[in-house]
Amino acid sequence: MLKDIKEILLTEEVIKEKIKELGGKISRDYKDRNLLVVGILKGSVVFTADLIKNINIPCELDFMAVSSYGNSSETSGIVRILKDLDNNIDDKDIIIVEDIVDSGVTLDYLQRYLKARNAKSIKIAALLSKPARRKTEINVEYLGFEVPDEFIVGYGLDYAEKYRNLPFIGVLKEEVYK
Ligand code: IMP
Ligand code: MG
Repeated sequence: MLKDIKEILLTEEVIKEKIKELGGKISRDYKDRNLLVVGILKGSVVFTADLIKNINIPCELDFMAVSSYGNSSETSGIVRILKDLDNNIDDKDIIIVEDIVDSGVTLDYLQRYLKARNAKSIKIAALLSKPARRKTEINVEYLGFEVPDEFIVGYGLDYAEKYRNLPFIGVLKEEVYK
Protein backbone atom coordinates (compact mmCIF):
# COMPACT_ATOMS: atom_id res chain seq x y z
CA MET A 1 0.00 0.00 0.00
CA LEU A 2 2.77 2.47 0.95
CA LYS A 3 4.61 1.89 -2.31
CA ASP A 4 1.69 3.53 -4.16
CA ILE A 5 2.08 6.79 -2.24
CA LYS A 6 4.12 9.54 -3.91
CA GLU A 7 4.26 11.92 -0.97
CA ILE A 8 2.79 12.39 2.52
CA LEU A 9 0.98 15.74 2.64
CA LEU A 10 -0.44 15.70 6.17
CA THR A 11 0.75 13.53 9.04
CA GLU A 12 -1.49 12.01 11.69
CA GLU A 13 -0.27 14.59 14.25
CA VAL A 14 -0.99 17.58 12.02
CA ILE A 15 -4.48 16.28 11.23
CA LYS A 16 -5.19 15.62 14.90
CA GLU A 17 -4.27 19.17 15.94
CA LYS A 18 -6.45 20.68 13.21
CA ILE A 19 -9.46 18.55 14.14
CA LYS A 20 -9.10 19.59 17.77
CA GLU A 21 -9.25 23.23 16.63
CA LEU A 22 -12.31 22.63 14.39
CA GLY A 23 -14.14 20.73 17.16
CA GLY A 24 -13.51 23.57 19.58
CA LYS A 25 -14.83 26.13 17.12
CA ILE A 26 -17.98 24.08 16.43
CA SER A 27 -18.55 23.59 20.18
CA ARG A 28 -18.50 27.36 20.71
CA ASP A 29 -20.62 28.18 17.64
CA TYR A 30 -23.32 25.57 18.34
CA LYS A 31 -23.74 26.02 22.09
CA ASP A 32 -27.51 26.11 22.83
CA ARG A 33 -28.37 24.99 19.30
CA ASN A 34 -29.72 21.67 18.06
CA LEU A 35 -26.66 20.22 16.36
CA LEU A 36 -26.91 17.27 13.98
CA VAL A 37 -23.65 16.12 12.41
CA VAL A 38 -24.21 14.43 9.05
CA GLY A 39 -21.22 12.42 7.86
CA ILE A 40 -21.06 11.60 4.16
CA LEU A 41 -20.17 7.94 3.66
CA LYS A 42 -17.74 6.50 3.19
CA GLY A 43 -14.89 8.98 2.79
CA SER A 44 -15.70 11.14 5.81
CA VAL A 45 -16.04 8.32 8.34
CA VAL A 46 -12.56 8.72 9.83
CA PHE A 47 -12.80 12.52 9.96
CA THR A 48 -16.36 12.45 11.35
CA ALA A 49 -15.39 10.03 14.14
CA ASP A 50 -12.42 12.17 15.17
CA LEU A 51 -14.37 15.43 14.83
CA ILE A 52 -17.28 14.45 17.09
CA LYS A 53 -14.83 13.33 19.80
CA ASN A 54 -13.64 16.95 19.83
CA ILE A 55 -17.15 18.42 20.09
CA ASN A 56 -18.01 18.94 23.75
CA ILE A 57 -21.67 20.01 23.49
CA PRO A 58 -24.71 17.73 22.90
CA CYS A 59 -24.88 16.57 19.30
CA GLU A 60 -26.57 13.91 17.22
CA LEU A 61 -24.96 11.90 14.44
CA ASP A 62 -26.36 10.58 11.18
CA PHE A 63 -24.94 9.51 7.84
CA MET A 64 -25.81 9.80 4.19
CA ALA A 65 -24.23 7.89 1.36
CA VAL A 66 -24.01 9.48 -2.06
CA SER A 67 -22.22 8.49 -5.19
CA SER A 68 -20.82 10.73 -7.88
CA TYR A 69 -17.64 8.95 -8.91
CA GLY A 70 -18.06 5.26 -9.51
CA ASN A 71 -14.62 3.71 -9.63
CA SER A 72 -13.05 6.51 -11.59
CA SER A 73 -10.89 9.39 -10.39
CA GLU A 74 -13.06 12.02 -12.14
CA THR A 75 -16.49 13.16 -11.01
CA SER A 76 -19.43 12.20 -13.24
CA GLY A 77 -21.32 15.34 -12.21
CA ILE A 78 -24.37 13.27 -11.27
CA VAL A 79 -25.13 12.73 -7.58
CA ARG A 80 -27.17 9.75 -6.42
CA ILE A 81 -28.42 9.21 -2.85
CA LEU A 82 -27.58 5.66 -1.77
CA LYS A 83 -28.52 6.09 1.90
CA ASP A 84 -30.76 8.83 3.27
CA LEU A 85 -31.03 10.29 6.79
CA ASP A 86 -32.82 8.22 9.43
CA ASN A 87 -34.90 11.02 10.97
CA ASN A 88 -36.80 14.21 10.29
CA ILE A 89 -34.56 17.31 10.33
CA ASP A 90 -37.02 20.24 10.72
CA ASP A 91 -35.55 21.51 13.97
CA LYS A 92 -31.90 20.61 13.33
CA ASP A 93 -28.82 22.77 12.89
CA ILE A 94 -26.89 20.59 10.49
CA ILE A 95 -23.19 20.38 9.83
CA ILE A 96 -22.46 18.28 6.74
CA VAL A 97 -19.09 16.57 7.17
CA GLU A 98 -17.17 15.78 3.98
CA ASP A 99 -13.71 14.38 3.39
CA ILE A 100 -12.81 16.65 0.46
CA VAL A 101 -14.42 19.36 -1.66
CA ASP A 102 -13.31 18.90 -5.24
CA SER A 103 -15.66 20.23 -7.95
CA GLY A 104 -18.19 21.10 -5.22
CA VAL A 105 -20.98 19.29 -7.07
CA THR A 106 -21.69 16.82 -4.24
CA LEU A 107 -21.96 19.48 -1.52
CA ASP A 108 -23.96 21.82 -3.70
CA TYR A 109 -26.47 19.04 -4.26
CA LEU A 110 -26.56 18.00 -0.59
CA GLN A 111 -27.06 21.56 0.62
CA ARG A 112 -30.03 22.01 -1.69
CA TYR A 113 -31.44 18.65 -0.72
CA LEU A 114 -31.27 19.30 3.05
CA LYS A 115 -32.65 22.81 2.60
CA ALA A 116 -35.61 21.36 0.71
CA ARG A 117 -36.18 19.05 3.68
CA ASN A 118 -36.46 22.11 5.94
CA ALA A 119 -33.32 21.87 8.04
CA LYS A 120 -33.13 24.85 10.40
CA SER A 121 -29.59 25.68 9.29
CA ILE A 122 -26.87 24.04 7.19
CA LYS A 123 -23.10 24.53 7.37
CA ILE A 124 -20.20 22.52 5.98
CA ALA A 125 -17.13 20.97 7.59
CA ALA A 126 -14.56 19.52 5.20
CA LEU A 127 -11.17 18.11 6.06
CA LEU A 128 -9.72 19.01 2.64
CA SER A 129 -10.40 21.35 -0.25
CA LYS A 130 -8.96 21.43 -3.77
CA PRO A 131 -9.80 25.01 -4.77
CA ALA A 132 -8.24 24.64 -8.23
CA ARG A 133 -10.97 22.19 -9.22
CA ARG A 134 -14.07 24.05 -8.11
CA LYS A 135 -16.99 24.16 -10.58
CA THR A 136 -19.54 25.63 -8.19
CA GLU A 137 -18.88 28.00 -5.32
CA ILE A 138 -19.10 26.34 -1.90
CA ASN A 139 -18.74 28.09 1.42
CA VAL A 140 -16.87 25.77 3.80
CA GLU A 141 -17.35 27.14 7.32
CA TYR A 142 -15.02 24.61 8.96
CA LEU A 143 -12.10 23.73 6.70
CA GLY A 144 -9.07 21.64 7.60
CA PHE A 145 -6.56 22.11 4.78
CA GLU A 146 -6.25 23.17 1.16
CA VAL A 147 -4.50 20.59 -1.02
CA PRO A 148 -3.00 20.76 -4.52
CA ASP A 149 -4.75 19.37 -7.58
CA GLU A 150 -3.52 15.79 -7.25
CA PHE A 151 -5.28 12.56 -6.32
CA ILE A 152 -5.36 12.32 -2.54
CA VAL A 153 -5.84 9.16 -0.45
CA GLY A 154 -5.79 8.09 3.18
CA TYR A 155 -7.61 9.05 6.37
CA GLY A 156 -10.89 7.85 4.84
CA LEU A 157 -10.23 8.91 1.26
CA ASP A 158 -10.05 6.13 -1.27
CA TYR A 159 -9.06 5.28 -4.76
CA ALA A 160 -11.31 2.43 -6.00
CA GLU A 161 -12.20 1.69 -2.33
CA LYS A 162 -8.60 1.24 -1.23
CA TYR A 163 -6.21 3.28 0.96
CA ARG A 164 -8.98 4.52 3.33
CA ASN A 165 -7.16 2.93 6.27
CA LEU A 166 -3.93 4.91 5.88
CA PRO A 167 -3.59 7.07 9.03
CA PHE A 168 -2.15 10.03 7.08
CA ILE A 169 -3.10 11.98 3.91
CA GLY A 170 -0.95 11.33 0.89
CA VAL A 171 -0.74 11.79 -2.86
CA LEU A 172 -1.38 8.69 -4.94
CA LYS A 173 1.21 7.92 -7.61
CA GLU A 174 -0.17 8.70 -11.06
CA GLU A 175 0.74 5.30 -12.46
CA VAL A 176 -1.79 3.73 -10.05
CA TYR A 177 -4.80 5.43 -11.63
CA LYS A 178 -3.67 6.43 -15.12
P1 IMP B 1 -17.01 16.82 -5.74
O1 IMP B 1 -18.46 16.58 -5.84
O2 IMP B 1 -16.34 16.90 -7.07
O3 IMP B 1 -16.66 18.00 -4.85
O4 IMP B 1 -16.39 15.52 -5.13
C1 IMP B 1 -16.44 15.22 -3.80
C2 IMP B 1 -16.16 13.75 -3.58
O5 IMP B 1 -15.26 13.21 -4.54
C3 IMP B 1 -15.48 13.57 -2.24
O6 IMP B 1 -16.42 13.33 -1.24
C4 IMP B 1 -14.58 12.39 -2.48
O7 IMP B 1 -15.27 11.21 -2.15
C5 IMP B 1 -14.28 12.39 -3.95
N1 IMP B 1 -12.95 12.96 -4.23
C6 IMP B 1 -12.64 14.12 -4.80
N2 IMP B 1 -11.31 14.31 -4.92
C7 IMP B 1 -10.76 13.22 -4.37
C8 IMP B 1 -9.38 12.82 -4.17
O8 IMP B 1 -8.40 13.51 -4.49
N3 IMP B 1 -9.21 11.62 -3.56
C9 IMP B 1 -10.25 10.82 -3.17
N4 IMP B 1 -11.54 11.16 -3.34
C10 IMP B 1 -11.78 12.35 -3.94
MG1 MG C 1 -15.05 8.89 -2.37
